[in-house]
Amino acid sequence: MTAQHDAAASPVVGDRFEVEVGAVAHGGHCVARHNGQVIFVRHSLPGERVVVEVTSVGSGRRFLLADAVEVLAASPDRREPPCPYSGPGGCGGCDWQHVTPQAQRHMKSQVVAEAMLRQGGLDLAVDVESVVGDHDGLGWRTRVTYSVDSDGNAGLLRHHSHDVVPIERCLLVTDAVDAADVTRRRWPKARSVSVVSTSTGESAVTVEPMPPAPTDRARLLDGIPESVAVVGVRGTGRLHESVAGTEYTVAAGSFWQVHPGAPELLTRAVMEALEPRPGDHVVDLYSGVGLFAVALADVVGVGGRVEAVESDPAACAAARRTSHARPNVLIHEDKADHWLAARSIRRCDLVVLDPPESGAGPKVLERIVRLSPRRIAYVSCGPASLGRDVRLLSNLGWTLTSLRAFDMFPTTHHVECLATFVPHHD
Ligand SMILES: C[S@@+](CC[C@H](N)C(=O)[O-])C[C@H]1O[C@@H](n2cnc3c(N)ncnc32)[C@H](O)[C@@H]1O
Repeated sequence: MTAQHDAAASPVVGDRFEVEVGAVAHGGHCVARHNGQVIFVRHSLPGERVVVEVTSVGSGRRFLLADAVEVLAASPDRREPPCPYSGPGGCGGCDWQHVTPQAQRHMKSQVVAEAMLRQGGLDLAVDVESVVGDHDGLGWRTRVTYSVDSDGNAGLLRHHSHDVVPIERCLLVTDAVDAADVTRRRWPKARSVSVVSTSTGESAVTVEPMPPAPTDRARLLDGIPESVAVVGVRGTGRLHESVAGTEYTVAAGSFWQVHPGAPELLTRAVMEALEPRPGDHVVDLYSGVGLFAVALADVVGVGGRVEAVESDPAACAAARRTSHARPNVLIHEDKADHWLAARSIRRCDLVVLDPPESGAGPKVLERIVRLSPRRIAYVSCGPASLGRDVRLLSNLGWTLTSLRAFDMFPTTHHVECLATFVPHHD
C-alpha cells in the first residue's frame, strides 16, 4: 500500500500549483509562499503569477525548491530566453536568460542591498554597474569548464545535478572560446574539458581524463585547432593577459577574472578605493596571479612594497614571472590566515583582499585589523559573506565608506562587489 499524500498541505517533488512570485533572493530564485511554506522559484520574476513544479524539498520541509513551468501573468522584465538550452530542466549554467539585462542588474542591486541589511546590519542602496565587453549579457565568458557525458558529449550541468546537457554552443562564451571547437566534437574517456582564451589572443584546452589516463595523450589533440594549446600535451599551459598596458602571465588552471572587462575595471576600482601613495607598504591577500599586486607595485614604487599572499602554487609561479622585474613585489605561497598568523609583518599601510565566495571570516579580519592599515579594499563575489564581514569589521572598529557592485557575470545571479573601509576614528 502506498502512502496517500495531500499536495495542498505537504507538496512533494513533481507537484504543481499556482503561486504569486515575490522578491528576488540570492542564488537565482525568487521567493513565493504556498500554504505558508517558503518556495524558492527559479525561472520566475517578482510580481509574476506562475505554475511551479516542485524540484526539491528542503531539510525538515522548511522550504521547497521549484521551477516556474508556466507563466500565467508575466513581468514586463521578462524576455524570450536567447538560449535554447535554458529553462526548467535545461542547462543550469544561467539563472536569468529570461530576464532583460537592465532588470538583471536591478535584481542584483536588491540582492546586495538585502545582504547588507540582513547580514551587515546596514541599510544601503547599491547600483550594479554594467561592465564593458559583453553583448547584452552574452559572449563574455573567457573561461569555461564543460562536463562530458557517458557518450563523450561536452556540455553543461543541469541545475543542482551531475547530469550533462550536451550543447552545440553556449551563448555566454566568447567567440574565441567557441572557436576551440570543444562542444562540437566527442571526448571519449574525458571527465571534463576546460577552455581558456586570453586578451592577447591565446587559447588553451585542459582535458581531465577519466581514470586511467589515456596512454596516447596525443589523441586528445584530434580536431583541436593548431593554434590552441592543450595543457600537458602541447604548449606550456602558461598564457598571457594584457591589462592597461601591463602583461601578466597566467596559468591555464589558475584564477583569472572571467569577464573580459573585469580585470581593468576592478584594478582601477581597487586603486580608487585604496588611493595608494609612493612608499606605501601594501598587503594583497588572495592575490591570484598578481592582478592587483603588480598594479599597486607600480604606484608605490621602489620605496614601497607589496606583499601578495596566494595559496595556489601555479598562480604564485605565474605572479613571480609577471613581477620578476619588480623587486618591490613579494609573492608568498601560503594561506591568508596562516601567513597573517605568522606575523611576518607587524603593520602595513593598505590591504586589499579578494577571497573566494565564502569570504574572509573573523580570523583573517582580526589579523588584518592588527596591521593598522589606513584603508581596506574588500573585493567579493559573495554578497552574503560580504555582509557578514561588513558586520565583523564594524565590530572591530571599521566603517564602510563605499560599496560598489559590478555586473561581471551577466545572465547569471552572480555579482562582484568592492567594499572600502577606514577605521572609525577617520
Ligand atoms: C577570487 S580569486 C582572486 C584573485 C585575484 N585577486 C584576481 O582578481 O585575479 C581568489 C584567489 O584566492 C586563492 N585562495 C583561496 N583560498 C585561499 C587562502 N586560504 N589563502 C590564500 N589564497 C587563497 C585562490 O587560489 C584564488 O587565486
